[in-house]
Amino acid sequence: MKGVVFDILRDMVEEQFGLAGWNAVLEQAGSDGLYLSTQTYPDAELLGLVAAASQVTGKPADELVFAFGDFMVNEFYKRFPDFFDNASGLIDFLVTIDRIVHVEVRKLYPDAALPHFTYDNQHRDEVTMHYRSPRKLCRLAEGLIAGSARHFAEQYQLKHDPCMHQGADCCSLHITLVR
Ligand code: HEM
Ligand SMILES: [Zn+2]
Repeated sequence: MKGVVFDILRDMVEEQFGLAGWNAVLEQAGSDGLYLSTQTYPDAELLGLVAAASQVTGKPADELVFAFGDFMVNEFYKRFPDFFDNASGLIDFLVTIDRIVHVEVRKLYPDAALPHFTYDNQHRDEVTMHYRSPRKLCRLAEGLIAGSARHFAEQYQLKHDPCMHQGADCCSLHITLVR
């Protein structure tokens, strides 16, 4: 994962638990906390920080990963507003992630570890995203979808079935807008 992801995790922990909270997470994880946004660090390092944050905050790691995805959207909007502003709404935005957003991210960070999404069942009010990644961060994807929905002020229902954590070869995220 790129250092920028670590920066965003630090911002989230600091916002909620202060600098002391972040320092406690670093200590628990045995990390010096020196991350450069364009550098690449092992995925295990990020997961170690999430596990440490779970210890420090008492929240399940799964819940933190979701909250992290949700929080990331605010940071992405600050850094890349055009991706959001060019979309007419949540579904329109989500279908651009694989074809446009992550393609541009790859140009910026050539060694980024990005997932692969395919889409089907796309209508005005629904879409299915099939998520494939060796990192199996589908909870992060769920959080990113939640944050994006908040950005566009849209309500939705999500069905996540099947899931790679249950042995499937991809996670299918079925999103239906609720009006
Ligand atoms: C403007 C919006 C977005 C930007 C700029 C963006 C950018 C990024 C970046 C920089 C990474 C980390 C790559 C690395 O550390 O090597 C990443 C990873 C990821 N992104 Fe996005 N992203 C955006 C929206 C989304 C949305 C809406 C979703 C899901 C619906 C999504 C799904 C993911 C997932 C699941 C990962 C983790 C890596 C993996 O699963 O393999 N992204 N993205
Ligand atoms: Zn899944």
